[in-house]
This record gives sequence, C-alpha cells and structure tokens, in this order.
Amino acid sequence: MKVDVKKINLKENDLPLVILGVLEEAKEDIMLKEINEIVGEILELGDFKGKPGQISLVYTQGSIPTKRLLLVGLGKEEKLTTETIRKALGNSSRKARDLDVKKVGVNLDFFSREKLDIVEITEAIVQGIVMGSFQNITYRTEKLEKYKKIDELQVFSETVEEDIMKKGTVSGKIIAEAVNQCRTLAWGPANYITPNFLANEALRLEKETGIKTTIFDREKVEEIGLTSFLAVARGTKEPPKFIIMEHGANKQGVETVALIGKAITFDSGGISLKPGQNMEKMKADMTGGAVVIAAMEAIAKLNINLHVVGIVPATDNMPSGTAYHPGDIITSYSGQTIEVINTDAEGRMILNDALTYAAKHFEPKAMFDFATLTGAMMIALGEHAVGYFSNHDFVVDKLEEASKSSGDKIWRMPLWEDYDEQLKSDLADFKHTGGRPGGSITAARFLSKFTMDVPWAHLDIAGAMEQSSDKNYNPKGSKGPAVRLIIDVLRNW
Ligand code: BES
Ligand code: MN
Ligand code: ZN
Repeated sequence: MKVDVKKINLKENDLPLVILGVLEEAKEDIMLKEINEIVGEILELGDFKGKPGQISLVYTQGSIPTKRLLLVGLGKEEKLTTETIRKALGNSSRKARDLDVKKVGVNLDFFSREKLDIVEITEAIVQGIVMGSFQNITYRTEKLEKYKKIDELQVFSETVEEDIMKKGTVSGKIIAEAVNQCRTLAWGPANYITPNFLANEALRLEKETGIKTTIFDREKVEEIGLTSFLAVARGTKEPPKFIIMEHGANKQGVETVALIGKAITFDSGGISLKPGQNMEKMKADMTGGAVVIAAMEAIAKLNINLHVVGIVPATDNMPSGTAYHPGDIITSYSGQTIEVINTDAEGRMILNDALTYAAKHFEPKAMFDFATLTGAMMIALGEHAVGYFSNHDFVVDKLEEASKSSGDKIWRMPLWEDYDEQLKSDLADFKHTGGRPGGSITAARFLSKFTMDVPWAHLDIAGAMEQSSDKNYNPKGSKGPAVRLIIDVLRNW
C-alpha cells in the first residue's frame, strides 16, 4: 500500500472515500459542525452515536468533491487513546476495502486531540489501515486482480505540516508491514514455511537491509554442540536451521539486545504425539521465530541505534525412528543435563540452547524470547494478552512502557523459585516439564536456568497468537503478536 500525506482542507480534497473519527456525545464538537455542513444534520437523527467500533457510510451527494465519508466511532473523549484510533481504523479499513475503494483518505484533524501526540496518532492511523486490511492470497489460484485491495492511503490535515505527518506515516507503515509479515509467515502452511524458508527470509534481510545473517545447518549445529535443539530436530528429515541475524553489528558504543524466537515449523508432539483435533494449528508454532524475523526487518528499516541480535532455532517436531524419546537425558549447550519427560514440550528444548548461545556469544544487556510455549498460557489469559515472565525489573519497565504505546497487551506472570520442585529429576539436573499445575510457570522456570544471569523476559504468546474472527485491526488468523511491542521496546531504549 502506498502511503502519502497532504496539507489540505476536507472540503477541497477530492478522494473516493474519506474516513472521519467522531466522538461519542460529541454534540459540542466543532468537527461535528463541519460534517453537518457537508451531509446535513445526519448526527441529529441519532443513528450514529460515535460508540467505539460503530461505522457509518455517508454519501456527500456533490456537496464536496469527495464522494463518500466513512464515519467511525471513537467513544468518549476522556477515554481516547492511540489504541482506540488504531482499532477504529482497523475496522474501517475492511469496510473501505469491501467497497472496492482503491484510494482511501483519512482526515487527521478528526482524530487528533490535544492530549495525544500528533506523530503517534498518524502512526496509529496508518497501522490500523495497513494491519486491518491484511489478507494473504498467496495460496489461492484465482487471479490476483480479482481481490479487492486498498492501493493507496492519504493522511491529510488542514493544519498539520506535511513533514510531521510524514514522520508518522513512514514509521507506522514499517511497523504495520512487520506485523503483516509475521502473520504471513506464522499462518503459512508447514509444507511451505519450512526451516529453510525462514532461513531464506533471513538471507533476504541480509540482501535488502544492513542485517548480517548466519545460518547453521544440521552438521554445524552438531559440531557446535547445540544438542538440546538437535534432540528435537533428530525426528525430522526436514533440514533444521539455527538462524542468527544481527542489526548494527558495526555500530560503535551501542548496547546489545538479543531477541530469540521459537520456530517449530510444525509441532506434531513427536513421540508424545498430539491428538488429531486442531493439530493443523501447530503450523503456527513458529510464530515466535516469525516475530523475531519480522521485527528485525523493521528494526533495520527504522535504523534503531542498537546492536540487535535475532536468534531463531527452526525445526519440525516429528515422530520417527530417529526421534528423541521420553526419558532421554540430553546435555544442553549450557552443559546442564535435561531429562525429557514429554517430547511435546519441545519448545523449551530448542529455546534453552538459543538462550545460552545468545548470552555466551553476545553478552547482551537484555534478552527477550517469544514462544508459543504452553497451552496453559492460553487457558490462563485467553487470546487478549501475552503473558510474560522476567527476572529483572529493568526489563519489566521497558516492556510495560512499550505496551502502552504499542497497544500490545501484556501481563506479568510469577517466576517464583518455589515451582522448581516440580522440575526435580531422579537422574538429571532437571526434568523439562513439571506437570499440569502452573504449566506456563514451570516452563518459564526451566528457561530461566539458561539465561546466564542476563536480564531477560520470556513472552509466552500461545494464547495471543491468533483469533477466530475479524476484530479491530486483527483479521481472522495470526495476530502477529508482540511485534509492535518489541519494536517499541527497542525504539524507546
Ligand atoms: N506448541 C505447544 C503449545 C501450544 C498449544 C501453543 C496450543 C499454542 C496452542 C507446545 O509445544 C506444547 O505442546 N506444550 C505442551 C507442554 C506440555 C507437554 C508440558 C502443552 O502445553 O500441552
Ligand atoms: Mn509441543
Ligand atoms: Zn510447540
């Protein structure tokens, strides 16, 4: 989608459709007067109340050059945030797309309020439209031209200077496209989105941005001793890849932050095979890896002034004659021994080696891992929030601040030592699962053994990875969870 800006009055602009935000109980709002002048006393009828999520299409019938206005409710003024705006634009974007409007205008003046930052509002508008109208048609055979699609977005204002608006549209587009890229990878089928496919994405980033990419194949992984990762990969013929991406490797005097993403390209459960129902959803068990790859692209495009290392261990988890068994004892890259209890707890097997690798070789100031790690997290928080665990308040502060600006909801979970007794093994240093009680917490406790005291947060995105119907700026399918969050963490660093 092409995104541009223009300093122009609503009545002079000439577009097929313009989106206007309207507050609830906005009788006194000066912006309301302007709409009434164009389309008559439409709001007086009371059909459109400006409630959040409410949308109304109005035809201007020649009173101004623009043909259609899409009024979108913003709710009460005192509750207005950039997230309200992002959601409102997300809903409107699909409405505009379904009308087959190729160029959509958004009048910034109808969204800006004094308490909100103008660049942040502009960014939220672009994000809402670009994320909300996302669709993936790469696997359909019908001609591309048959699909409705918004080609162009114009953000305009009578008063705001174009270079200010431009700031918001440029970053908004980069970030929204990263979310969409994450969704495309996460929701893509396992026979296409293989470890090799992800490795090629990382190599594309090397070509197109300044990112430095290193890929370890099975032999190299074995040679280095990433044995816990390899234990999972042993069950599949699909070549595993241990992907390392670096942004800002040559920057002087900047801090290093590591991002680690679980990329199980298909999680059958392995020898501890999952039941058949819903197993197809496990194509998205590489969402954490997709978060990291997509975020790395945005980080490079925004040229964030940090050294950011992205590590994505990628493999299928399959049952076979060579697969790892329940009861196996694996010596991890950290040197600690792990008793495998259930081969379906494969995420923590591949992540522990990646965490140790990051801590040892890059000595980061902080590490963040993203993983569709436990069904228990879905039970605990449902689809609306990402549960996270952290060993350090400094990382917690960064996440909470970024959650506010990005709109990505997060909730801190406990990481108390008490849970370690569930991980006691008769034979090895620890078991890798602790039974059903507190399943997300014991998983996080397990990972905490491999962080080498680096300030760290583990984000369990299993609940928030997808949704079952179109809502706000998330169309049905993968949500691209925590992509905006982590970009904001790094932007605000
Ligand atoms: N990838 C799954 C977790 C998952 C389940 C994510 C459903 C999204 C939706 C993970 O590898 C897994 O299977 N976890 C097990 C752990 C258990 C064996 C300790 C689980 O949650 O049941
Ligand atoms: Mn599993
Ligand atoms: Zn899994």
